[in-house]
Amino acid sequence: MARFDGKVAIVTGGARGIGAAIVARLASEGAKVMIADVNAPAETGEHVAFLKTDATVAADVQAVVAATLDRWGRLDILVNNAGIGALVETPEMAEEVWDRVFAINTRAIFLFCKAAIPAIREAGGGAIVNIASISGLLGDYAMGAYNASKGAVVNYTRSLALDCGRDGIRVNALCPGLIETEMARAAVADPLDRAFWFDRIPLGRSGTPEEMAAVAAFLASDDASYLTGVILAADGGITAHSGQPNAPQRIRERTRRQG
Ligand code: NAI
Repeated sequence: MARFDGKVAIVTGGARGIGAAIVARLASEGAKVMIADVNAPAETGEHVAFLKTDATVAADVQAVVAATLDRWGRLDILVNNAGIGALVETPEMAEEVWDRVFAINTRAIFLFCKAAIPAIREAGGGAIVNIASISGLLGDYAMGAYNASKGAVVNYTRSLALDCGRDGIRVNALCPGLIETEMARAAVADPLDRAFWFDRIPLGRSGTPEEMAAVAAFLASDDASYLTGVILAADGGITAHSGQPNAPQRIRERTRRQG
């Protein structure tokens, strides 16, 4: 028996990147999956459907939840994955950029939860997985809107976990580190930039969308049946770091220079 046999899921932003890997993982373990994305996925199938959905527009969100119920008769799992970044410091940031980042990263999660919770409740309970970010736990340079919006996702996850617990709906957040999707690829395209980024990751490499999908699937599955309100970083150890420099390495370099 596969973990998601008989289960129905919606994955926002499931057309590419981490979302597409989550779609593939859930489907490979027996789920029927509806992709809610502004862009079309590379492929669909008997158990993977797509409805063009702007996750920031309430009517679109209601339509994709209704289409999922029409097609498969139930809803058990919601993965709020759609998200965008913005690399700009506050004085230069246009108001529209701030608003757009918040609309996609946080408002869309509210709209999807509002539309989906009654259906998941009707199914007898289920799971919501919010894709936040390590940037929702700590600060980054020139990422004010992203940091603030993902921080909101983190605490909204806890709030939802309280409100939904007695309906048997678990709500958890996954906080990816550096994952090489379209969103992050440009940052590490140059080999020098790559080494610079990887130097800060204890595991010494970026993560893959499939590694994030494995964690999201765990949180969505009954294997995580006693987890709710959990904020889980899957980041190769970045957030294990206090931010202080690598002193032993500096001492070794100094000794080498002097010796
Ligand atoms: P991506 O840019 O490759 O994919 C995002 C998907 O969301 C795209 O298919 C896009 O069409 C869709 N989307 C964008 N706006 C939408 C809207 N209004 N309505 C519906 N769909 C929309 O990004 P990636 O890297 O796969 O990111 C997925 C999630 O993971 C995001 O929430 C992101 O913030 C988060 N994340 C990514 C990290 C990374 O290093 N790639 C690190 C930490 C978090």
